[in-house]
Amino acid sequence: MKLVYGFDGWHVSKPFQRPYVRAIIQYINELPPKRRTRVCEIGAGLGDILRNVEASEKFFLEYDERVLKACKLLAKIHNKGRTDKNVFLKFCFPTSSLTEQCNIIVMVNWIHAIDPDTLNDNLIKYYNEHLCPGGYIIVDSVEAEFANYHHDFKKFQEVTGSKKRQLGEDFVFGRRIWLFEKSIN
Ligand SMILES: C[S@@+](CC[C@H](N)C(=O)[O-])C[C@H]1O[C@@H](n2cnc3c(N)ncnc32)[C@H](O)[C@@H]1O
Repeated sequence: MKLVYGFDGWHVSKPFQRPYVRAIIQYINELPPKRRTRVCEIGAGLGDILRNVEASEKFFLEYDERVLKACKLLAKIHNKGRTDKNVFLKFCFPTSSLTEQCNIIVMVNWIHAIDPDTLNDNLIKYYNEHLCPGGYIIVDSVEAEFANYHHDFKKFQEVTGSKKRQLGEDFVFGRRIWLFEKSIN
């Protein structure tokens, strides 16, 4: 697949080599079905997270067209006989606009390259305009030196008043997965 689509080797590492992927999938799948009806991932890569999430509508958003193509193929194979509605869109953060209203928006393992102001401003917009009440934004922070930015999501928390909750333990590279829940009212 790497040879055919010509993308970076990172993409072909197996999901089980990335325990944070398993933790996110498990968390989402254990939510009551109505709280995971529409799930969106920005920077979905090959779709290792979303492909394994149980939701009736899944939005795979990704800016690399070769990766998006491979992601679509993998989802098609995985989806045989299933009724999930999968949508694949070329999406470049922060210039592309979200159009969906979702229960869950996932953005992990690439946002350490985005400056905090750009990230927080767009997270606030997604939270206010595209997240259903009772929904979650799932993001990560990375402590390792390769990360351009070590996010604390302070501005996002202050503006939205949402609580930051860590999902699971610290993972490799000091990666932490954070959940922000939008209140029902
Ligand atoms: C390292 S992969 C992670 C994939 C998936 N989130 C995971 O954790 O399994 C990061 C993906 O995000 C995409 N990406 C990076 N920057 C992006 C941006 N600004 N907008 C949309 N996608 C982006 C990359 O093309 C790549 O496929």
